[in-house]
Amino acid sequence: MEITLNSPLDMHLHLRDGDMLKLTAPLSADFAGAVIMPNLVPPVRTPAAMQEYDARIAAAMGAAAFTRYMTLFFTPQGEQELLAAKNTPGFFGFKLYPAGITTNSEGGISNIAQADTTLRIMEELEIPLLVHGESHGFVMDREQEFLAVYRHLATRYPRLRLSMEHITTAAALQLLDEFPNICATVTLQHLIITLDDVAGGALRPHLFCKPIAKRPEDRDALLQAALSGHPRLMFGSDSAPHPRSRKEACGCAAGVFTGPVALPKLAEIFAAHGALNQLQSFVSDNACRWYGLQPVQKTVTLQDTPMAVPTSYRSYGEQVVPMYAGESIGWSVVR
Ligand code: DOR
Ligand code: ZN
Repeated sequence: MEITLNSPLDMHLHLRDGDMLKLTAPLSADFAGAVIMPNLVPPVRTPAAMQEYDARIAAAMGAAAFTRYMTLFFTPQGEQELLAAKNTPGFFGFKLYPAGITTNSEGGISNIAQADTTLRIMEELEIPLLVHGESHGFVMDREQEFLAVYRHLATRYPRLRLSMEHITTAAALQLLDEFPNICATVTLQHLIITLDDVAGGALRPHLFCKPIAKRPEDRDALLQAALSGHPRLMFGSDSAPHPRSRKEACGCAAGVFTGPVALPKLAEIFAAHGALNQLQSFVSDNACRWYGLQPVQKTVTLQDTPMAVPTSYRSYGEQVVPMYAGESIGWSVVR
């Protein structure tokens, strides 16, 4: 069996910078493009910094054709700044983080009312807002508690291009169905694992991410929505590499490194459920339609011959451990 995908997109990707970027960029190069997250140290806040980062990504991609949809770290700002961002080549949208909610998000927003004027202008200018939707409550309830904020945003700014990033709950899917003016991304791991896989037996730090994986019924609902071709649900890997020393540590960094396995594993899952015909929508068409994207034209063919996943990748002095490290995946990219 095989499938050829047209211009697959990863709508939520952490490529990092420096030596790590040199490792991660080629490992996502089977995609035709990706929405690039801005949570560097310091975060990417200005169009100038964004363009410099974009150029470093382009260099790290080498010859691979890859459309970079760049984001800026959301801060309240006025019309001139928003227009300048919008007119910067490569700019896609703003990523809003609640302050301190995850890796390098200390400069985020502590009260959504702070963002009101900015969001009004973004609505006018049709600038997408991508949101890390978690409260500071009990870890299993954070996404659910944040749904009230999504509801507020979708109601108060009805024309805002709002994306609920990396949703992990059935409740978020219900909200997606309730509000036709919003979209959502979902990761690979949240289609597959539950909290049990992370912490139900021996702790598996390489599966620890934020939002944390939830209950079986949440995972099942997300998988069904993806397999059924929900028109406003898009693949966003949230592939988030950290050095092994920061993962296998007391105070494990959040993030699952799925970039190298994302497309083969998605093909395996969709094939196993007899839903390969929906994969194109999930990994490209839904995003292209919703945002009006025209990524570089590129095809990738996947087939049901196994991929041996390395136990780790080496980034100069550091090791980085991917999801399914040392295991075999049923599908692979045809080279
Ligand atoms: O697990 C995560 N890792 N969640 C995030 O929101 C950020 C990401 C990262 O940058 O490491
Ligand atoms: Zn992320």
